[in-house]
Amino acid sequence: MVVLRIRNAHKRHTLLCLSIIGFIMYRYLWTAPGGRRLSRRVGLSANSSQFTLEGEPFRILGGSIHYFRVPRAYWRDRLMKMKACGINTLTTYVPWSLHQPERGVFHFQTDLDLEAYINLAAEIGLWVILRPGPYICSELDLGGLPSWLLRDRSMRLRTTHPGFTEAVNAFFDKLIPKVVPLQFKKGGPIIAVQLENEYGSYAMDKAYMPFIKKALESRGINELLLTSDNHQGLKGGGVFGVLRTLNLQKLNQREIKDFKAIQPIRPMMVMEYWTGWFDAWGDLHHVFAPEDMISTVREILSRGISVNLYMFHGGTNFGFMSGALADPIYKALTTSYDYDAPLSESGDYTAKYHLLRDLFSRYHSETLPDIPALRWKATYEAAIMYQHLSLWDALSFIEKPFKSPRPVNMEDLPTNNGNGQSYGYTLYETIITSGGSLKSGDNVRDRALVFVDRHYIGIFKHRFLELAVPDGKGKRTLSILVENCGRVHYGKAIDKQRKGLVGDILLNNSPLQNFTIYSLDMKTSFIDSLNQASWKTLPHNPTLPGFFLGRLFTFGYPSDTFIKLPGWGKGVVFINGLNLGRYWSIGPQQTLYLPGAFLNSGVNQVIVFEEQEADFKITFEDAPDLGMAVDIQ
Ligand SMILES: *[C@@H]1O[C@H](CO)[C@@H](O)[C@H](O)[C@H]1NC(C)=O
Ligand SMILES: *[C@@H]1O[C@H](CO)[C@@H](O)[C@H](O)[C@H]1NC(C)=O
Repeated sequence: MVVLRIRNAHKRHTLLCLSIIGFIMYRYLWTAPGGRRLSRRVGLSANSSQFTLEGEPFRILGGSIHYFRVPRAYWRDRLMKMKACGINTLTTYVPWSLHQPERGVFHFQTDLDLEAYINLAAEIGLWVILRPGPYICSELDLGGLPSWLLRDRSMRLRTTHPGFTEAVNAFFDKLIPKVVPLQFKKGGPIIAVQLENEYGSYAMDKAYMPFIKKALESRGINELLLTSDNHQGLKGGGVFGVLRTLNLQKLNQREIKDFKAIQPIRPMMVMEYWTGWFDAWGDLHHVFAPEDMISTVREILSRGISVNLYMFHGGTNFGFMSGALADPIYKALTTSYDYDAPLSESGDYTAKYHLLRDLFSRYHSETLPDIPALRWKATYEAAIMYQHLSLWDALSFIEKPFKSPRPVNMEDLPTNNGNGQSYGYTLYETIITSGGSLKSGDNVRDRALVFVDRHYIGIFKHRFLELAVPDGKGKRTLSILVENCGRVHYGKAIDKQRKGLVGDILLNNSPLQNFTIYSLDMKTSFIDSLNQASWKTLPHNPTLPGFFLGRLFTFGYPSDTFIKLPGWGKGVVFINGLNLGRYWSIGPQQTLYLPGAFLNSGVNQVIVFEEQEADFKITFEDAPDLGMAVDIQ
């Protein structure tokens, strides 16, 4: 603060006017993330007990929306709803696995156009905190790490193991130059960048976080750096000179005290305030009471703490991107990532949204923008499945099968230009000449349907390790269809997430040999190639597993809808070749979100891949059903 002594009243008046105009312009420029200003010198600073941005006090009212969980056509809608709620900062993870599906292959276009997403946030008037990982957790398969990393037998993920750091460097060489020009001091909206994610709970290598810090800084990241940990991870987390932030759901006085003690003269921020929770197949649908959420957020703010709502809008784990839990037992996560967040999976307002808007409005001097209109949700006529193709008849459309004396895990298959298979199913076939006892040990990841001469005989899953193979004469084909239900996204077991058959299967205690292996990652190119297959009119008793073909008609502009599959068991839905995600009758999730943005006006192709129990139609409802709810304890 500069103190001016001005004796002359006239001069004082002129100076006052000039400073008011100057202040207004200054405020306008720095409060508008879209207004590019090249003279910015100081960004977000954490040198005292409050954040400052360009020297002015600043409170982060953040919210997470992941561009990879929302169709690009809806990014603007979701971000405008965020802005209208009084959020001033968008936070997003960057999923390495989706951006680099193979070594040397990078995707930053269309639904993965990160620069467009950040620029859109700026245009709408939101600052951005970027969380580029490389490990992000986020309930994604392998916490967002590419599965091809696991081709290295000695791989130690999230450490300075050379195979890992080299891969991180190659990814950051592509990613970081895209975001460097979008930083605050360069006139962009990025005010802070997070290092890795909750490393304090993993903490396998002391040299790792300094490596990540250097990897970002050496490539031109020069905004505020921060780390994010839950209470248990606080101690082992953190890096010298980097702001620590805390993740939590309920405010616990001791946690806040410990947090304050670690950084007494720095601003406090809850980087992940969990507004809800995710769901696993076979569980109930988690909800978190709006009153509990709002009272905690109110208290966080009244204590002067900055906050980021994780999630503000969860979205969908389209395709096979969802992760899994390892403890206490393996559990795969659902397709919906609704998260019981303030905006629902399909972008609808919830009670939480309205409570938050009311609270946040008190932290803004201007009135908040009007709430954008809702999108229409449609009930469409059921799609009648009129054609059928068994899995066995679809095998000829799979990239060349691979022969191997012993089972080979998905990641080590020679498919995808030598990068292995990341997601989906793998079929292992061999010839047997007797019946007897078939044992999987712990070698099936994660679930396998078993067939003899293409007749179903049973299932291997985590607690079913032995099957009886009926006696029979001569040579018979044994088929094991293994599904990667999702790699574990969190915990110490992430190095052990190889999928498919990861070791021998024993028949009467001798290992089966000489496999033919089909990789079924069910990419759009494969689904589209099935157009050439000889589909049959749906028989009364269709062979399973199999593909079922039907049509969805929309008239005029297509709307969002929710797919229901009554009478179906477990499988995957494809709309116009796009993998919408898994369904499973065990729930909790009973409907799949189908964004209108994925539909054509007129005829749409619907393909269902069903493993075990099919019906002849699927229906389209105007409301989601995420299953029986249970309060988070
Ligand atoms: C905050 O402190 C750091 C380290 O002491 C210094 O480099 C930086 O310039 C300071 N930032 C501001 C905005 O004062
Ligand atoms: C597997 O194939 C090899 C080479 O063709 C053959 O020598 C061997 O006997 C086969 N093993 C079994 C169990 O069929």
